[in-house]
This record gives sequence, C-alpha cells and structure tokens, in this order.
Amino acid sequence: MNIQWFPGHMHLTRNAIGERVKTIDVVIEMVDARLPASSANPMLRELLRARPNLKVLNKADLADPVRTQLWLDWYAQQQNTRAVAMDSHHSAPARALIEACLTLAPHRGGMDKPMRVLICGIPNVGKSTLINTMVGKRAAKAANEPGVTRQEQRYVLQDGFYLFDTPGVLWPRIIVAQSGYNLAAAGSIGRNAFDDELVALELLAYLQRHYPQALQARYGVADNVSALAEMRDDALFEAIARKRGALLPGNRINAQKAAELILQDFRSGALGRVTIETPEEFQQWLATGERLDAERQLKKELYQQERHKAYARKKRR
Ligand code: G4P
Repeated sequence: MNIQWFPGHMHLTRNAIGERVKTIDVVIEMVDARLPASSANPMLRELLRARPNLKVLNKADLADPVRTQLWLDWYAQQQNTRAVAMDSHHSAPARALIEACLTLAPHRGGMDKPMRVLICGIPNVGKSTLINTMVGKRAAKAANEPGVTRQEQRYVLQDGFYLFDTPGVLWPRIIVAQSGYNLAAAGSIGRNAFDDELVALELLAYLQRHYPQALQARYGVADNVSALAEMRDDALFEAIARKRGALLPGNRINAQKAAELILQDFRSGALGRVTIETPEEFQQWLATGERLDAERQLKKELYQQERHKAYARKKRR
C-alpha cells in the first residue's frame, strides 16, 4: 500500500521534539490500545534517548481487555517504562498520570525543580482529549481529522508541573506493512493517503480470524459464527455491503460506502471491544518487515553501485 504521510510540518515536529526533549523529565507517549505497537512512533525511540517513558494505552474502552493486559505485561518488561491503559475522557485516571510521572522522575516536581513532561502521539490517538481532561477545561482543540494541533503548547497542571504538547506526528517510512493497515483502520492517517477498500478488507480478514463473533453480532451475515469464520473475505465483504444497503444502481455493491461503513464501525466501537494486534504477532510482523526492508536497502545499494560503475566506465572511455 502506497501511503504519503510525511508532510513538511512533520519534519518540523521531529526537530521540535528533538529540541524540546533535551529539557524534559518524562515523556508520555500515547498509543491506541487497539494497536499499541503500530501506533507507537519508532522515530521517537531515537529522539527520546533514555528519558523515562510513560505509555498511555488510550481508548482502552474500545480495546479487548484480555489483550490490553497482554500489552501491559509486555510493557512492564521494558526498561525505563511504565504503561497504563485508560479512556481519556475520564478525569481520575488522567489526573493519576501526574502521580505516575512523579514516580518516574522522583527528583523533580515543585517550584525549584519543576517537572517537565512532553506528551507525544500520532494524530487522532486522543491527545487533545487527554490534555483537556488533565488540564480540567477545553484547553486543547479536539477534532476528528488527524493533525489539528500544529504548534507546541505548554500547560501548567499544578505548581511546578508543566506539560508540553507536540503536534501529532507519524513517521516517514513504514517497515511493518500490517502497521500501515492498522493505522489506517484506526483513522490515524489522513483519508486521502490510503484505499479504504483495501484497509477494510485487511481489517475484516483479521477480525474474521480473531473476532468472528463480533462480526456475526454486528452484521449477522451467516447462519452462525463458524459459518462466518469460513466465508471467503470477498464474499463476507459483499454480504456486509448488501446487508447494510451499500448498493449502486443495478444491485451492484458500493464498495467505497461498504468500506467506510466497516471502518467507521471499528473506529466507533460498534464492533465491540477488539484489539487488532498482540505483542507476539507484532514481533513476527516486525521481524518480517525488517528482513524485507534490509533486502530492499541491499538491492538499492547494489543498484547504486552498478550505476556508479557504469558512470565511471563511461567517463574512462
Ligand atoms: P488527537 O488530539 O490525538 O488528534 O485526538 P483527539 O483528542 O482529537 O481525539 C480523537 C477522537 O478520539 C475524538 O473523537 C475523541 O473523543 C476520541 N477519543 C479520545 N480518547 C478516547 C478514549 O479514551 N476512548 C474513546 N472511545 N474515544 C476517545 P471524535 O469523534 O473525533 O470527537 P468527539 O466528538 O468525541 O469530541
């Protein structure tokens, strides 16, 4: 899938985060609890260096609780990291993040050594919502289109506790193919950058394998869950389109409308609480992605070497 997702302002953001991080005590990275690894920015790893890291698995109310626990256990094994799952509309867990930051950087806090916290996350992950909840008023602008926050903002959460907000940022190169699909399914990539139908088909295929009961409950397009699990993916897509009235003249299905419908159902939670990756799956996708990426890089280098040699030969003649 060809995704164009590194507009100029994201370069600026990368630089801004790189600068800001030098004076930061704790980094809160928000990820989407339904796709925690795909929504974690690999670029941040290198930018954040060894700063204590608090992962917020947001939208946990939409995620599968059993899988959320798997992810929390997985993060618990990472160095310098704490992880919490939450629905950032609720104020008690959001305010509890302040305590979690103080635990991660116990030497900071108070007027003489203020705690400086940077909050990062990809577009649409719920950063504005969390900030609004933490700050206690509608301080940051929340919207349903990715990438509204453009410039860094600072909030004072309490005396000696500052929160720096950065624009939602994606990264330039996708290595794990499945992450692209999952990010698009979650609505974290601008709408024009991907093909809705392809993304909906990938999502359906995953849900069919792992959550056939959720699909059957929402769409009821087969006699029972086992029958649904065995349907061909294109047949399942078509059955959903027909059932939901996504049709064109001549009784043909309206694939675009059907895809939008399915994606919307996933994003809004109408499909129930589902999580579309586990730590184990992601490690496998990552290993494949890194291998393919290394092969691609090697091919590119060989091609460039050949071109240089051909150029040198031409010059000698
Ligand atoms: P961003 O700043 O990271 O880009 O995201 P933002 O806060 O604008 O949130 C994007 C959408 O996700 C919003 O929905 C918001 O309500 C929703 N959201 C944020 N956190 C959570 C959460 O923990 N659980 C659930 N279920 N949803 C969450 P919207 O429909 O675009 O806007 P709104 O009408 O709800 O404000």
